[in-house]
Amino acid sequence: MRVLVVGGGGREHAICMCVAKSPKVDALYCAPGNAGIARIATCVNIGAMEFDKLVDFAKENAIDFCIVGMDDPLVGGLTDRMEEAGIRTFGPRKNAAILEGSKAFSKDLMKRYNIPTASYENFDDYDKAVEYLKGSKMPIVLKADGLALGKGVLICNTLEEALEGAKEIMLDKKFGDAGAKMVIEEFMTGREVSVLSFTDGKTIRIMTSAQDHKRAGDNDTGLNTGGMGTFSPSPFYTAEVDDFCKKHIYQATVDAMAAEGRPFKGVIFFGLMITKDGPKVLEYNARFGDPEAQVVLPRMKNDIMDVMEACVDGTLDKTDLEFEDNAAVCVVLASAGYPVKYEKGKEITGLDAFDDKEGYYCFHAGTKAEGEKILTNGGRVLGITAKGDTLKEARARAYEATAWVDFDGKYMRNDIGKAIDEA
Ligand code: AMP
Ligand code: GLY
Repeated sequence: MRVLVVGGGGREHAICMCVAKSPKVDALYCAPGNAGIARIATCVNIGAMEFDKLVDFAKENAIDFCIVGMDDPLVGGLTDRMEEAGIRTFGPRKNAAILEGSKAFSKDLMKRYNIPTASYENFDDYDKAVEYLKGSKMPIVLKADGLALGKGVLICNTLEEALEGAKEIMLDKKFGDAGAKMVIEEFMTGREVSVLSFTDGKTIRIMTSAQDHKRAGDNDTGLNTGGMGTFSPSPFYTAEVDDFCKKHIYQATVDAMAAEGRPFKGVIFFGLMITKDGPKVLEYNARFGDPEAQVVLPRMKNDIMDVMEACVDGTLDKTDLEFEDNAAVCVVLASAGYPVKYEKGKEITGLDAFDDKEGYYCFHAGTKAEGEKILTNGGRVLGITAKGDTLKEARARAYEATAWVDFDGKYMRNDIGKAIDEA
């Protein structure tokens, strides 16, 4: 099979690693890819939103199977475009990717189908939002409806903050058109867990659990980022939680989408909050998490192509997922200043240390090659993952490996997986 992966971050590097291992695959391309992906795939200099060019490339290069890793092209309808050109594609169509693309849609869906989530109201009128906020209990959560690079969520402790936030989202359009609508949501407390799943539109298969660290600084301080590190499995994802989610959340979501005439094929990412009243959905994503993929995929035993083909073909009921009985931790190495302002183009040294090191992975997130050198090319630069028999062992190994590589402005959190100690 000839495969094209669309995207160029750490998640796509982890996906490409699995695809490259599949005996079914003869040729692997990635658009646009990055310097790490270039070692296992042929990178193509086409952006993930350049649909015409991507479709032309796929046709000209006899691509049999396309995997869309990122949210923007999914929400924009790249799967539909590829399918129209006769190319089998993994990832939801536009009418299903709305599960991530519109928070107002996903909240309404959960309400209609009794899927547990925080109580909320949707607003497209600023004055009405203000009126509602004035009568609300604080803290409260404001969410821009559309995609905003994971930054469109504001947790407001006071009415002043909430009014300022509503203005930023709806009037100042800080997140662009994503803020034309806004969700105002009850603030929940509890442990957060990320659960990824494969679905073919009817059957859903759950992957091993993970936990992300979204804030930039140690002890969950600083701004929200795309994710500064992850561990898998989450010790807080107990059998009881799993049972509850299987009864009330996972299949219910797949069935709800099918009932709405929006069958979802691909990865559903359930962002869950385990509250004292039980697990509730914080958000859905229509793709693998990044950096959740960097701890979940290295532990998956299945041939990823078997699973992805089953999702596209509607035969997932005949496939069981298998994960190694171990643990993994990923520590993101970012550029100083991320997520606000940071420099690019710094040389990265020490990458060879990962060659042939069993159980250690260096996933490239924002890198590019220039001659013989590998340079930083983004806020999140590398995802250093290590496996271990236990979470503690995996964490110690991942931190050990963060010292093998260096670049000017290298920044990381020092407390990824600290929560493990409280389990
Ligand atoms: P989201 O992009 O919806 O996952 O939101 C980003 C982060 O904001 C989540 O990972 C949570 O930490 C936090 N968050 C979102 N919604 C809520 C809520 N209703 N209550 C408390 N925290 C929330
Ligand atoms: N790590 C969270 C996300 O991918 O949205």
